[in-house]
Amino acid sequence: MKQRKSRLQVGTAASASVLLVGALCAQAALVGHSATGAPAAKKTAPSVAALVAGYQQWPRVNPTPSPMRPEVAARCLVAPLLENAAVPSPDVEPFHSYFVTVYVNPIGQQVMMGMRRPVFPEGTIIVKEKLQDMSATAPELLTVMRKREKGYDTAAGDWEYVVMDGSGRRVLSKGRQAHCVCCHEQWKQTDYVSRVYLPAALVQQFK
Ligand code: HEC
Repeated sequence: MKQRKSRLQVGTAASASVLLVGALCAQAALVGHSATGAPAAKKTAPSVAALVAGYQQWPRVNPTPSPMRPEVAARCLVAPLLENAAVPSPDVEPFHSYFVTVYVNPIGQQVMMGMRRPVFPEGTIIVKEKLQDMSATAPELLTVMRKREKGYDTAAGDWEYVVMDGSGRRVLSKGRQAHCVCCHEQWKQTDYVSRVYLPAALVQQFK
């Protein structure tokens, strides 16, 4: 009775549990945020890729890449994984520590870098580059938060969450992504934005 064939393709038990946690998280969040995202009024709005293009010229929030917490790296990958199998699997290097550089467009700059209790204006776009190491010049992945119009997602601060490939040309997933909100909810007090990478000097000058 050697039926070894039905081994999980997922890989290690560890990665399976990471996936499980992500899935549970996504499910829990889905209950809370009805996904009745009717594709209302499809106007010829600029694409996310167009909005994000040239973000490297925007104000950089952390002057040097900040370390990303490894458990965050693993779980952050789960989200796009669930929707797009082409995204690298987190079990390749479970303990690889990544770095992040965050950019904000001028609409959100003052709030991002100067306010203790930020409430971001509509049109704010925050781009987080996920970098292999401190000196990496090409990001591996971009995650984006875009402040939409009032009523877009009232229960979660009206943010649209977007995952893009490192070039910023291909959108891997976007919308009211419950699996993103699931974690960003812990920063509800600061409008769902963590700002953990903000230099201490700026934090001290918060108004
Ligand atoms: C498991 C927790 C977790 C999940 C899930 C998560 N994030 Fe984050 N996110 C973080 C943390 C922690 C930071 C702070 C920077 C860092 O260490 O990566 C962050 C930072 C960000 C930032 C920079 C703005 C900020 O809040 O500081 C963006 C943009 C972002 N995440 C987008 C996303 C998107 C899009 C998704 C869903 C695909 C997502 N995140 C899912 C934990 C998470």
